[in-house]
Amino acid sequence: MTQPLKRHLVLIGLMGSGKSSVGRYLSGVTGIPFVDTDALVEAHERKRVREIFADSGEEYFRELEHEMIGKTMLETTPSIVATGGGAIIREANRKLLWQHGFVVYLQAGIDLLLERTSRNSSRPLLSISDPRLKLEELLASRAPYYEQADLICPVSAKNIQEVGEFILAVWKKSAHFPAAGSGT
Ligand code: S3P
Repeated sequence: MTQPLKRHLVLIGLMGSGKSSVGRYLSGVTGIPFVDTDALVEAHERKRVREIFADSGEEYFRELEHEMIGKTMLETTPSIVATGGGAIIREANRKLLWQHGFVVYLQAGIDLLLERTSRNSSRPLLSISDPRLKLEELLASRAPYYEQADLICPVSAKNIQEVGEFILAVWKKSAHFPAAGSGT
């Protein structure tokens, strides 16, 4: 039996793993539109993620994140989706992401994540005295979900283009690469 088509490409992984950069790269080479669920939440609230956490709390953000994941995944036009690092925490999100998306985990080591995320203060969960410990805790609790991805892509020794090309090669060979002009 043929597998049902997973029309979107979904990038998951911790903060700083390169989901948005790789997503934009893949969108550029395939012409498939890029969607960033954090950006959808920000546009909806007209606030940055950091401000949403500060003003309304994480749970409020998670509700909006869930709403945006639902809208994105049920969209019939294929897209390349960068999720927030915590999108996989909720079972309902995992169902949507895995059912409608070819899910790729960008697997990065803590040193790389720390180096990248320390460049700006946009991540409320890491605006604390020991971001390394927090990243280690998040990785320990989330890895079981990340590792359920259709494809695990180690990123620490690769640049954005190499990561993108690796994913593209596997995705194209899978049954899930959208045909040109495909709206299904
Ligand atoms: C979060 C990751 C962030 C953003 C929010 C929470 C998380 O997205 O959704 O700050 O829980 O890991 P990025 O992974 O794109 O930084």
